[in-house]
Amino acid sequence: MPKDPNRESDTIGVLFVCLGNICRSPLAEAIFLDKIERRGVRDRFLVDSAGTGSWHVGQRADPRTIEVASRYDISVPSIGRQVKTDDFDRFDMLLAMDRSNEKDLLKAGAPRERLRLMMSFHPEHTDNPSDVPDPYWGEGDGFERVYRMLDGACDGLIDAMLRR
Ligand code: 4NP
Repeated sequence: MPKDPNRESDTIGVLFVCLGNICRSPLAEAIFLDKIERRGVRDRFLVDSAGTGSWHVGQRADPRTIEVASRYDISVPSIGRQVKTDDFDRFDMLLAMDRSNEKDLLKAGAPRERLRLMMSFHPEHTDNPSDVPDPYWGEGDGFERVYRMLDGACDGLIDAMLRR
C-alpha cells in the first residue's frame, strides 16, 4: 500500500513509464486523466508519467504526441522526468509500455508485484500483451496507432483499479 504520508490512504497511485517520457507514457497519462475526469473519479487517483532515460527531462511531450491527443480533444500536461526510487513507494501500479521498460524498471529496483505491461489491461490483449511500439523514430501514423492501443488499455486499467 502507499507509504507517502502526504497522500490520502485510499488514493490509487498510477505511474506510466516509457523510455523517453515524451511519447507513449505522457500520452497514456493524458488519456487516463481524461477518462477518470469524465467518469467523475479523478480524486481517487494520483497519476504521473516518467521515463527510464534522462534525455528529455524538463521537456514538454513530443509535438506529435500533443498533436494526436489534440485530435481527440485531450491536453498533455506532462513535463519530462526520469523514474526515481521514490516512485516505487509512491505508486501502487507501475505501467511499463514495453518489455524493455519493464526490464529497466526491475533493474532499477521496482517491485515486481507493482509492475505491469500496459497492454495487459487491454480487453483484447490480456493473454499475450503486446508491447506499445515506440513511435519516436517513425512516421506520424505510429502515434495514431499508439493512441488507439492506449485508449483501450486505459479503459481496462481504470476498471481494474476501481475493482481493487
Ligand atoms: P518514448 O519514445 O519512450 O515513447 O517517450 C522515445 C522518445 C525519445 C527517445 C526514445 C524513445 N530518445 O531516444 O530520445
